[in-house]
Amino acid sequence: MQASFQRGGALKGTVSVPGDKSISHRVAIIGAMARGESRVRGFSPAEDCASTLAVLRALGVDVTRDGETLLIEGIARKGFLQPDGPLYAGNSGTTMRLLSGALASSRVTVTLRGDESLERRPMGRIIEPLRLMGATITAGENGRPPLRIEGGSLHGIDYSPIVPSAQVKSAVLLAGLGASGRTLVKESVLTRDHTERLLEYTGIAVYREGLKVAVDPGVPEAREIVVPGDASSAAFLVGAALLCPGSEVIVRSVGLNPTRTGFIDLFRRMGADIETVQTDSGDWEPVGDIIARHGALKGIRVSAEDVALAIDEITLLALLASRADGTTEISGALELRHKESDRIAGTVAALRELGARIEETDDGMVIEGPSELKGSHVHASRDHRLAMMLALAGLVAGGETVVEGWEWTQISYPGFEKVLSELGSGRSHE
Ligand code: S3P
Repeated sequence: MQASFQRGGALKGTVSVPGDKSISHRVAIIGAMARGESRVRGFSPAEDCASTLAVLRALGVDVTRDGETLLIEGIARKGFLQPDGPLYAGNSGTTMRLLSGALASSRVTVTLRGDESLERRPMGRIIEPLRLMGATITAGENGRPPLRIEGGSLHGIDYSPIVPSAQVKSAVLLAGLGASGRTLVKESVLTRDHTERLLEYTGIAVYREGLKVAVDPGVPEAREIVVPGDASSAAFLVGAALLCPGSEVIVRSVGLNPTRTGFIDLFRRMGADIETVQTDSGDWEPVGDIIARHGALKGIRVSAEDVALAIDEITLLALLASRADGTTEISGALELRHKESDRIAGTVAALRELGARIEETDDGMVIEGPSELKGSHVHASRDHRLAMMLALAGLVAGGETVVEGWEWTQISYPGFEKVLSELGSGRSHE
C-alpha cells in the first residue's frame, strides 16, 4: 500500500497516542504467568501486540475483552498448555524473545516462528544465556528462527549481555522467575526497564543497582493496569511539530519513563523546544504530556549510550538532522542493522533519495544539514518506523512524496495517518 504526502502548513492541536507497545507485550506475558486475572486498560492496538496475544492464546491462556478492558487469566502454577502447532510471532522480535524466556522453564515443547523479517533476525543473543541457565533450545541456521524450546528446569545465572538489549535482559529475567536461585543481568549501557518495573509492581523481588538487575524466582500477582501512551509513537508527532514551521502539538498521557524519553533529551540537545509535564508519578510508570513547537535545530553527536535510550527514534533523528544546521554524527548504533529492517541502510537510502546529505558508517550515520528535501517515491523497507519517518519527510519536502509499504505502520501505530491529518497535514491515501 502507498501513501502520499505534500508539504503542508503548521500542525496544531492536542492528541493522544495508543497504549505503549513495549509495555503491552510485558503486561500480556507477565499477566499470563501471573496468579489471578489482570484487568488492563489502554492495551496497545499494534499488530505486534496482537501477535503476543495470539501466541498466549495458543498456549492456553484465556484472553478476553470487557469493553475497552483486556482480561488476562494468569496460568500461574498450572502452566502453559501444549500448543497444536508452531507459534507465530509475526513481525515481533519482542514477542519471540520475551516468550522464549517465559517458556524456557515451562512443561511444554514449542516451535516459535515469525514472518520473513523476524526469521532473519539474530536469536543467538537469547539462546546463549538461556542455555547457560539449563534451557534446551535449538535454532535454524546462524541462530536464526525457527526456535525450538523444550521447557525444563533452569538455574539462575549472572549474565552480561554482549549487545545492549532490553529484549535480552527481559528474556533472562522472565526465565529467572522459573529458575532455582537468583538471576542477575549486568548491562553495559542502560536499556528500557519496563520488565523490571512491572515485575516489581506484580510483587516479584527485584534488586536493582546501577546497571545490575536481579530477580528471585516467583509467581507474579495479577493487577489492574493502565498502559501509558506509547512514547515511541508520540515521538513521531513531536518530530512532525519540530519539522513543520508554526507548529505546536500537545501529546497527552504519554509514558515518561526516563529509559524511553532519550529522544526528548537528544532533540533538546539539537535545540528543540519540547516541554514535558508529568501528570501522574505512577506507582509503576510515570505519565505526562509532551508539548513540542517548531524551531531551528542544530547538528549533534550521538553516542552508544544515547542510542540505547532512543533506539527506536534514531531514524527520526536522522530526518531532523537533515533539516538542522551543521553535522550530526551517530555512532554506536550497530543494533539498528538488526531491527525489523537494516535501519541504517534503509534510512540512508530513502533520505538520500529525498535529497538529504547522509552517509552510512559501519555503526551509524553522518548527516550534513540543512538540506532542502524534494519529494520522490521512497520505500519503507517493510519497516513501520521507516514508513512513519518518511511520512514526516513528505510534510517538509517540495512536491509529492510517495511512501511505499504504508501498511507496515500497523505494526506499531494503527491510525497514525488519521492523527497527522487531524493535526492539519492534508494527507491523501491510496
Ligand atoms: C524493545 C526493545 C528494543 C526496541 C524494540 C522493543 C522491547 O529492542 O528496539 O522496538 O520491548 O524490549 P532491543 O532491546 O533488542 O534493542
